[in-house]
Amino acid sequence: MKVLMNDQAAKLRKKVEMLRAYRQAKTIAIVSGKGGVGKSNFALNFSLSLTKKRKKVLIFDMDIGMGNIDILLGLTPKYSIVDMFEEHLSIDDVIESGPNSLSYIAAGSGLADIFTMDEEKFDYFLNELEGLVNSYDYIIFDMGAGVSEATFYYMLAVDECIVITTPEPTSLTDAYAMIKHVSYKSAELPISLLVNRAQSQKSGQKTMERLQQVVLKFLEKEISPLGVLPDDKTVIRAVSSQTPFLTYDPNALVSVAINQIVDQYVNDRIDIEKKVPISFIKKLKNFIKER
Ligand SMILES: Nc1ncnc2c1ncn2[C@@H]1O[C@H](COP(=O)(O)OP(=O)(O)OP(=O)(O)O)[C@@H](O)[C@H]1O
Ligand SMILES: [Mg+2]
Repeated sequence: MKVLMNDQAAKLRKKVEMLRAYRQAKTIAIVSGKGGVGKSNFALNFSLSLTKKRKKVLIFDMDIGMGNIDILLGLTPKYSIVDMFEEHLSIDDVIESGPNSLSYIAAGSGLADIFTMDEEKFDYFLNELEGLVNSYDYIIFDMGAGVSEATFYYMLAVDECIVITTPEPTSLTDAYAMIKHVSYKSAELPISLLVNRAQSQKSGQKTMERLQQVVLKFLEKEISPLGVLPDDKTVIRAVSSQTPFLTYDPNALVSVAINQIVDQYVNDRIDIEKKVPISFIKKLKNFIKER
């Protein structure tokens, strides 16, 4: 059984690598160890801030049964990702329109574990996703609190993983455990860290550096600092009024901070993309030349 699982995993990984070579949209998974640290609020407002930079963004609520991107938006989706799998709808059918041309796919309800180590389902998911990569600049997955073992294989498909923690020791320990798990499953996957609900920029920065150092020391992995978001009551008020905090109060500390994080993120990406040309065609041409 174990051999079969490993064999399956290797096959799936190969498919993901092939798909990645063609890809244009950047795919990002938002994860945490502990629940309730601000993943969904971050995923939504980060995405919205990107749309304000004229980026085309799709947010994928992967928190099946508990998803709440639609609730945070105050919208009632017609379909969800559960419908995509269960009713065999195409991914285009289940994409909903949010504010500012933001697209989203609701998680939907149900107890069924739709993300299983089932090659057929994985193929179906990747094929559907492949159809989207030319239509978006960013595809963002809100992973929910309990990332199951099977969901991890879906996570291997992303280009980058953002881990969110608060400065609380329990959240930090769980973030460390999550980073360990992610890097064990996919050593090459770039990980960035976001500290949410910091009491000050300075203390948030300290938390960031401490966790980075621990990860470097014990896991020998470098994680990039994405940024610090303040603890801001605006978030709580915005959640109550079912409006993204960026829209609820664009001048709130937390809104200004997320816009800065996005500015920096987009600029950094331009530099990285300039340095690493990953065009599949280019790779193929080089390969042919070398022979
Ligand atoms: N920067 C912040 N300042 C103040 N409160 C915050 C902040 N970020 C999140 N919160 C509070 O934390 C709550 C949970 O946030 P959110 O739903 O985004 O977390 P989550 O990590 O997605 O949770 P889950 O693990 O259940 O999916 C929010 O409703 C809000 O009350
Ligand atoms: Mg959530």
